[in-house]
Amino acid sequence: MGVCGYLTVSWKCLVVLTFRLLFLLPAGLPVRSQGDSQSDNKVMENITVRQGETVFLTCPQGDVVTHTAWLNRSSILYAGEDKWSVDPRVSLVTLSQEEFTIKIENVDTSDEGQYVCAVQTSSRPRTTSVHVLVLVPPKIINLSKDLVVNEGADVTLMCQAGGKPEPSLSWKLISPSGDLGSEEEVLEIPSITRQKAGTYECTAVNDIGTDVQTVEITVNYAPSVSEGRDVGVTLGQKGVLECEADAMPEASFEWYRDDRRILNGFDGIDIEDLGQISKLMFFNVSESDYGNFTCIAINTLGSSNTTFLLYEVIEPTSSTLLQEESTSHLALTSSETFAIQSGPRTVQDGNSGALGIHTHTSNCVVFVLFLLFLLRV
Ligand SMILES: *[C@@H]1O[C@H](CO)[C@@H](O)[C@H](O)[C@H]1NC(C)=O
Ligand SMILES: *[C@@H]1O[C@H](CO)[C@@H](O)[C@H](O)[C@H]1NC(C)=O
Ligand SMILES: *[C@@H]1O[C@H](CO)[C@@H](O)[C@H](O)[C@H]1NC(C)=O
Ligand SMILES: *[C@@H]1O[C@H](CO)[C@@H](O)[C@H](O)[C@H]1NC(C)=O
Ligand SMILES: *[C@@H]1O[C@H](CO)[C@@H](O)[C@H](O)[C@H]1NC(C)=O
Ligand SMILES: *[C@@H]1O[C@H](CO)[C@@H](O)[C@H](O)[C@H]1NC(C)=O
Repeated sequence: MGVCGYLTVSWKCLVVLTFRLLFLLPAGLPVRSQGDSQSDNKVMENITVRQGETVFLTCPQGDVVTHTAWLNRSSILYAGEDKWSVDPRVSLVTLSQEEFTIKIENVDTSDEGQYVCAVQTSSRPRTTSVHVLVLVPPKIINLSKDLVVNEGADVTLMCQAGGKPEPSLSWKLISPSGDLGSEEEVLEIPSITRQKAGTYECTAVNDIGTDVQTVEITVNYAPSVSEGRDVGVTLGQKGVLECEADAMPEASFEWYRDDRRILNGFDGIDIEDLGQISKLMFFNVSESDYGNFTCIAINTLGSSNTTFLLYEVIEPTSSTLLQEESTSHLALTSSETFAIQSGPRTVQDGNSGALGIHTHTSNCVVFVLFLLFLLRV
């Protein structure tokens, strides 16, 4: 029992003992420990494999090999060409003078660990060990459900991911503010505002992959209506008052004429609700329609109102239009004023005797223009 200590039994010790028992090695044959300079216990580079893939375990042989085996921890998978493992994923690939190769298909995390190839030569045993590392792409396994909260509530989102190596996490609010800089499983949003509503993305990343999942947060808040803009309408024309409310959930609207509720379709007034906007539409504004109108937007969290004044606009008549036209010409240069201003006047004097005066005035105009022309030259 000089090979293995009484108290500490290493895996190598187990392997060697198993091997000796298995092939009933001659008792006199020396079995060397790890520290022995003459032993040949090689540690190969780690093999990294993705979950689900196939791993090949290769062990060099030699011309004087008598027995050889591949072990998973202390259990034998293959002894020579005899399969000891009952696992159908394990199979022999090559057993020759040069190498002894087995493969494990559809590798899982439980397969991770030390695999040992034990070789018995005519003189002494030899082991080659290899560590198989199984990598697992990230998978988000526990994510908060979509949420509906009131503005001001403290919100906590949870995102837990599995994978090997351990994935790193990040949280992002998809537009407009973007990256939230949190790399925790738990995202704390104290006193949430409406601007923080939206789609939250949790991303789990490791060396071999990425998983992304989203949580939707709806933030409810009481309506706020934009200030009403007074509207001027001419008698007999169409008129529209527009009330816009920002609210979540969407507000319902009520319209009032002073204290009286206005119902859709009465008194030539229609109410049209278009989501955030409600329109109060007059098809033919009458004298009695002028006045104050109040719009109230209501949802489960509250209400907001604004008042509009519908006022009368006097439409310009044909005579006022004519006046405006002639006065607008006064803006011309002084030398030309006389000539042009006389034009509309002559047209207005539309009686039969005017023809002579008209002709006379026209001649006068031509004469004045001629004089002006001479003076300039
Ligand atoms: C092989 O993997 C083991 C376990 O993860 C680790 O302790 C050891 O350092 C690795 N060896 C090499 C050479 O990477
Ligand atoms: C290796 O041993 C571990 C632990 O006993 C076991 O879970 C795993 O399935 C084994 N893998 C193979 C390929 O035998
Ligand atoms: C998910 O997270 C919640 C909150 O921490 C916890 O109560 C629950 O057990 C977790 N579920 C799983 C499957 O890990
Ligand atoms: C508008 O109402 C007035 C008074 O009731 C009526 O005389 C007029 O014809 C109406 N105009 C239209 C376009 O319906
Ligand atoms: C409309 O409301 C304003 C402010 O409350 C008030 O000053 C005004 O007299 C009202 N107009 C009418 C026509 O009721
Ligand atoms: C309109 O809003 C004001 C506060 O902005 C409130 O005092 C008033 O009671 C509201 N009116 C109605 C009819 O809801």
